[in-house]
Amino acid sequence: MKDYRASREQAEPALEQVLPNVQWFPGHMKKARDIITDNLKLVDVVIELLDARIPYSSANPMLKEIIAGKPRLVALNKADLADSQITRQWISYFRQQGTPAVAVDATQGQGIKQLVSLTENLARPMTEKLVARGAKARAARVMILGIPNVGKSSLINRLAGANKTKTADRPGVTRAKQWIRLGGSLELLDTPGILWPKFEDMTAGLKLAFTGAINDEVVDRELITGVFLQTMAAMYPERLRERYKLTGELPAEPHELLELIGRKRGCLVRGGIIDTEKAQRIVLTDFRSGKLGTVSLDMPPETVQSMA
Ligand code: G4P
Repeated sequence: MKDYRASREQAEPALEQVLPNVQWFPGHMKKARDIITDNLKLVDVVIELLDARIPYSSANPMLKEIIAGKPRLVALNKADLADSQITRQWISYFRQQGTPAVAVDATQGQGIKQLVSLTENLARPMTEKLVARGAKARAARVMILGIPNVGKSSLINRLAGANKTKTADRPGVTRAKQWIRLGGSLELLDTPGILWPKFEDMTAGLKLAFTGAINDEVVDRELITGVFLQTMAAMYPERLRERYKLTGELPAEPHELLELIGRKRGCLVRGGIIDTEKAQRIVLTDFRSGKLGTVSLDMPPETVQSMA
């Protein structure tokens, strides 16, 4: 158990506590980018997978540069965990920017049909152009890109399950690639592109830690949970009250709020001391599994216009 009162006296947690660079140093980023660039040569359009709860924070800041003009659409995954009204606002926002967008739930399959049909629409002008130039008609090829844990494998599995035919290795492509047939005129590369998350934006880093996009093992979990509780107390106080049966004013100090929740949940060690480690696990697990209700932590204001 940790007393992190002292660290709360600092204005903000240190960047390296929130976003330790252990997973993604420049060498990793270069390798990831090289793999994506290699695969991009094989595809006509890209699906950028974002976390519907944090569409801004889960976006890779260099995506546009990486995909270098390839048509792209945005799939807001884990929509079952996000506030549907805010997800709708994000979809309108992306559409206003000229980027098709759709909300999906890769685990349950919601939005998948719409995703396939939007992808077909996006790819159609390109395949029609090829035919107009006298090339043989062929399926448009697609790949999925996203940061770790956003649901890339789940989405690919869902699409592969819904579309049983996996095409054979394509002859003429240097390295064997597996393609999954989607709808009538699409093929999806079954290996997603793994993007690195935002590093230098503290607020985004915190949200990535809340959702589990940054591995819990490398962050200060109690610190993260304290900040998460503060955020929830500001944005969705009623959810905390309901879930943990809290009454009256919520404590402003995050450690007090965590201790209160721990007490309510019977997280006690000998001598009546609160097991904040256990309380912290309960809170983050509740959030990530939707037990705190649908929560959206990024809004689509002007400040994020540069991302689309
Ligand atoms: P990745 O390939 O991008 O790294 O992500 P992956 O598909 O492995 O998904 C990461 C976690 O997110 C998994 O949970 C997965 O079940 C969950 N997930 C993916 N899409 C959705 C969605 O639309 N809604 C919800 N609620 N969850 C989603 P996990 O706990 O790590 O593993 P699991 O035991 O649940 O499979």
